[in-house]
Amino acid sequence: MEGWDAVQSEAEQRLQELLRQCGRLPRHVAIIMDGNGRWALERGLPRVEGHRQGIQSVREVVTVAVCLGIPYVTLYAFSMENWRRPQAEIQALMRLLQYYLWRELPELQRRNIRLRAIGKLTALPRRVQQALRRAVEATAANTGLTLTLALSYSGRWDILRAVQLIAIDVRRGKLSPEDITEERFASYLLTHDLPEPDLIIRTSGEMRLSNFLLWESAYAEIYVSNLYWPDFRRHAFYQALLDYLRRERRFGMTAEQQVQRCLAESLWVQLEELLHEVES
Ligand code: FPP
Repeated sequence: MEGWDAVQSEAEQRLQELLRQCGRLPRHVAIIMDGNGRWALERGLPRVEGHRQGIQSVREVVTVAVCLGIPYVTLYAFSMENWRRPQAEIQALMRLLQYYLWRELPELQRRNIRLRAIGKLTALPRRVQQALRRAVEATAANTGLTLTLALSYSGRWDILRAVQLIAIDVRRGKLSPEDITEERFASYLLTHDLPEPDLIIRTSGEMRLSNFLLWESAYAEIYVSNLYWPDFRRHAFYQALLDYLRRERRFGMTAEQQVQRCLAESLWVQLEELLHEVES
């Protein structure tokens, strides 16, 4: 079913309840939405149709994140490298972006979602900038999920930008080189008010970060799905979350140093069964 209000089965509601209870969900999920073009081409459709179908995947992932209380989701919607695409595709993507920023605003409000954007936003067409500004301002006071769109974004560009800003502050005497710690450095990035991503999801099977959140992803778990983004719907998202829960995050420590917080075996059985039911 298209749209925001897909009916949730009892199994899905129970799955969500268990996931919320386990207390170990990621705080910040960042997603590289890849494979829209291939999804469309394999169906003999124009590439833009893949992007359009990808919007429904965005709705489903965001809906699940809201239901689970995941506070931050960041979507890589347009990279700085994407400006090299054929003009016709760029224009179609920008039109789509502008259209959905207007159309989905009431739904963002209804779900208490705060929209933000990171990237070189001044490179976007003026009408997209306007739609973005309107949506960001209108949702600024919302207190639920923070949904960040990475647009005209490049991780290296943001790091270089931070270095330039730091150099300016050093030159002005506002900062001394000895005070440039990791925390101080991160405070100059566009992501300064987001927690680091715990989970990065990439679709379409590619094993690359593609210049996404390079500094911020130092300790992120990476999950690669073979599905194209338009096929990455709620079930696939639950699967990624279960995979994340199975992993042991050590942050450089030994397993013994870590407080063991393994989920009980019985819980796993329930989670897997419910996931299977959601699928069928
Ligand atoms: C990658 O697929 C996807 C993009 C470059 C754009 C993603 C945009 C959307 C899903 C729609 C807009 C999003 C929002 C949040 C309103 P690709 O074209 O690189 O696919 P390919 O690798 O198969 O060519």
